[in-house]
Amino acid sequence: MSASSARDFYDSLAADYHRVFPDWDASIARQAAVLDGLVRRELGPGPHRLLDCACGIGTQAIGLARAGHRVVGSDLSPVAATRAAAESADRGVVLATAAADMRQLPFGPDTFDAVVCADNSLAHLLSAQDLAAALRGMRRVLRDGGLLLLTLRDYDDIRRTRPATSPPQVSHGSDGRSITFQLWHWHDDGERYDQEYFQLVPDEEGWEVRVRRATSWALPRRTVTDAASAAGFTDPTWHMPDTSGFYQPVFTARTD
Ligand SMILES: C[S@@+](CC[C@H](N)C(=O)[O-])C[C@H]1O[C@@H](n2cnc3c(N)ncnc32)[C@H](O)[C@@H]1O
Repeated sequence: MSASSARDFYDSLAADYHRVFPDWDASIARQAAVLDGLVRRELGPGPHRLLDCACGIGTQAIGLARAGHRVVGSDLSPVAATRAAAESADRGVVLATAAADMRQLPFGPDTFDAVVCADNSLAHLLSAQDLAAALRGMRRVLRDGGLLLLTLRDYDDIRRTRPATSPPQVSHGSDGRSITFQLWHWHDDGERYDQEYFQLVPDEEGWEVRVRRATSWALPRRTVTDAASAAGFTDPTWHMPDTSGFYQPVFTARTD
């Protein structure tokens, strides 16, 4: 999938993205509690300068800014980044946002203490070259002694089981209940899959069905660890859900 179609997918999904969560505000708070804890454990009390380089509509960026950090949220999707700005303003949270491709980050060297790339965003980079370019850029914008923080699905397990669907997620909103689920179509390489992303949204007649499509690369932890080391990161560590309390494996690494 090319970058422009990933952008089209998330531009189109941005207005509905909160429906992915049973309660988006509760997820903002829960995710920030874990990620903020990791940032402060690694870097000290702060506040710190953070870049969320795939901020989407702001799920992690808003909570981290509310925790006191100075956060910039950037995303390939200008529509998602614009919504992140509006949602943070609605909540009285200061968040600077920009549309930017994580493979070509428009920030100077040593600008941030930590870079966050959460909830499987890295999986939209479909080649080793793109993964390397993104991680090199994250290294460049971090100061020495900085922190990289990535979260991804447990693709080691997923590659073994090759699921065809994701479980339905029911979201409660002001317009009623909506339902999100995905069908996954695995490529012959066994590594990449096309996602058919279904959302059932209430309307006067019952349900409106919205279907969007994207492609992801099921990145094993070893691939991410090796690519981060090649990009100049040290001290690679995977924090699994049973110890971190986060719903996905979290990868941290440091810059010397
Ligand atoms: C699953 S969403 C997660 C968004 C956000 N972190 C959250 O949890 O709500 C993946 C995000 O990655 C972004 N993305 C995909 N490819 C990207 C790229 N090359 N550069 C920057 N962002 C990208 C998408 O636009 C999308 O917002």
